[in-house]
Amino acid sequence: MPSRSHIADKIRAKLKKRKKEGNLRKLQISYGLIDFCSNDYLGFSKKKSNFRPKSQGSTGSRLIGGNSLLFEKIETKISVFHRAEAGLIFNSGYNANIGLFSCIADKSDTIIFDQFIHASIRDGIRLSPARSFSFEHNNTNSLEKKLQQASGNILVAIESIYSMDGDQCELKKILTLCKKYKAQIILDEAHATGVIGKHGRGLACKLRLENHIFARIHSFGKSMGCHGAIILGSKELREYLINFSGAFIYTTALSEGSLMAIDNSYEELKSGTEKIHQLQKNITFFKESISKKLKKHYISSNSSIQCILVGGNKKARKTESILQKRGYDVRAICHPTVAKGRERLRICIHSFNSENEIKKCLLNIEELLS
Ligand SMILES: Cc1ncc(COP(=O)(O)O)c(C=O)c1O
Repeated sequence: MPSRSHIADKIRAKLKKRKKEGNLRKLQISYGLIDFCSNDYLGFSKKKSNFRPKSQGSTGSRLIGGNSLLFEKIETKISVFHRAEAGLIFNSGYNANIGLFSCIADKSDTIIFDQFIHASIRDGIRLSPARSFSFEHNNTNSLEKKLQQASGNILVAIESIYSMDGDQCELKKILTLCKKYKAQIILDEAHATGVIGKHGRGLACKLRLENHIFARIHSFGKSMGCHGAIILGSKELREYLINFSGAFIYTTALSEGSLMAIDNSYEELKSGTEKIHQLQKNITFFKESISKKLKKHYISSNSSIQCILVGGNKKARKTESILQKRGYDVRAICHPTVAKGRERLRICIHSFNSENEIKKCLLNIEELLS
C-alpha cells in the first residue's frame, strides 16, 4: 500500500503536469456576463417558481422511504409526453447513464458506442462486464464493421446531439443497420430535449422512431433548467432498472422541490413553442453571421452547441479569458476533453440571447483569432 505522502506527491505531480499543459480545470464564478456557455437553452432555470414543497428532503432511496405519488405521476406524465411506455427518474443524466450501462449487459454481450459519446456513458460502460468498442463518429461504415465483430446481445450507444461538436446523429441510418444486425439502440437525448421536435420532445419523436429505440435518456439539466433525468423505455426495462441499477437503488431520491421544478418545466414545454422557435431563430442567425474568416475554424452544427476551433489549449484559454473580460461568457474546451488540435471555443446559443449579443460576440472572436 502506498503511504499517504506517496499519494500526495502523485496528486501534486499530476496537477503540475496539467498546469504545464495548459489544461488545469478551475471552478469559475461569473457575474453579469452574457451567457454563451450554459445549457439553459430556453432560460427555464431563471423562472421564478411559485410552488412550495412541503418537505425539504426525500428521506431515502426510492425503494426505502424516498418514493412518492408525485414521483410516479411525473414519471407517467413525462413518458406520455415523449411517447414512451414507461420511465424512471434518476438524480442526474450522469447517474442515469452510469445506472443503465453498468447493469444492462452481461459478459457475453457487446456494447458499441460512438467515439464522441459522453463521459457518463463511457464510465457506465466501464462498470459493465460486457465487451465494448467504439466506432468512428457518426460513421455507419465503421459501425457496421463493429457490428460484424459483436456477439451476444448488441447495444449501440449514440447521442441525438453530440455535446462537444453539436452535430446530430444519423439516427435513421443507424437504426437500419441495427435492425440488420439485431442490435438495440440507446439514445442519449440530453441536448435534444426542449430543442428538437415539436415542443422539444427530442429526436426520436421528431423522426417518429420512438418505438424503435430500446432506451432514451432525457436529462433535465439542460433545456429543462433544473436537475435529474429520466430513462424511457418499456415497462419491463423500468422494472429491471428498479431491480438491478445500482445508481438508482443505492442513492437518496430527488426532493419534492426538484420534482416540482421538473414538472414546472415540462408544463412550460407543453404549453408553448415560442421559446423553442426563438432559439432556432438565434441558431440560424449565429450560423448566418459566421464570417468568411471564421468559416475555416467553424464546426458546422444546427443545434444550440456551436464551436470555433482555436488550436491549442493555451490559445483557447487565453481567448476565453479575453472574451470574458469583454463581457461574453464563452468557454474553452481543451484537450483531453477533446482531441489534440480540436481545442475550441464552445458557444451555447439560447432563446434569450439577442442578435446584437451574438453578432458582437462573433466579431470579438474573429478579432482575437486573426
Ligand atoms: C450527452 C450528455 N449526456 C449526459 C449528460 C449528463 O447529464 P447531467 O448534467 O444531467 O448529469 C450530459 C451533460 O453534460 C451530456 O452532455
